[in-house]
Amino acid sequence: MAIRRRIVAGNWKMNLDHAGAVALAQAVATGAHSCGDCNLILCPPSIYLEPVAQTLELTNNAGHSGVALGGQNLHDQPKGAFTGEISPTMLVDVGCTFCIVGHSERRTLFGETDSVVNTKAKAVLAAGLTPIICVGETLEERDQGRTAAVVTEQISGSLAGLSAADLAKSIIAYEPVWAIGTGKVATPEQAQEVHALIRKQLAEHADEATANQVVIQYGGSVKPENAGVLAAQPDIDGALVGGASLKAEDFLAIAEQFAHAS
Ligand code: PGA
Repeated sequence: MAIRRRIVAGNWKMNLDHAGAVALAQAVATGAHSCGDCNLILCPPSIYLEPVAQTLELTNNAGHSGVALGGQNLHDQPKGAFTGEISPTMLVDVGCTFCIVGHSERRTLFGETDSVVNTKAKAVLAAGLTPIICVGETLEERDQGRTAAVVTEQISGSLAGLSAADLAKSIIAYEPVWAIGTGKVATPEQAQEVHALIRKQLAEHADEATANQVVIQYGGSVKPENAGVLAAQPDIDGALVGGASLKAEDFLAIAEQFAHAS
């Protein structure tokens, strides 16, 4: 099996204020050295991208903290009359190298379909950014035994038309909707089963070597207490963390466990 990178991303959602965002970024950057080879990404609200970018740049003597910056969402067009939106080039401009697309909150609260997610993922890649493409079933779908079917459909719709090279540059996040913000984490076995299924589908979409390179994160109530068992699973390469990413100590403790997982 290929040795994949470990990547833990913090999705701050619509939280914090300017001072809080800067303080959190500072604390994460200061502690990042303890996370070894695990790469860290911070995804603040878009209005705080620039101050967080400045904080990450200024943190250590080398001029860069090693912590990367990501958007939470974007519009697929580079510019134009799209009131309230931000473009891929704007994300690049302020120092982002990643962007989350198709988070379940975007899908359910803002009506983003697989086709919208696909268009956004392509725009992210075209701008030279790495998309973190989110998929995951609802509790109802899981209870009906439809998890595999739902995730398979989301993956094929969201990745339609992406080349093997595009895929190799992308991150997939499996986030069961019933585990997001609920405190109910998927068991390591439940998560691993879906991660393995996704990797198999990536191999069918592209090829096995590419599939073995793709980082697949788990998301949904990841905390320092459960990160270790998740990180120990063969196909769980990192985490997309919501609530626990708002505390630097917890976020770093999660990343440390991914860094130490063999
Ligand atoms: P949570 O959110 O960690 O608060 O469950 C995860 C996410 O929405 O990415």
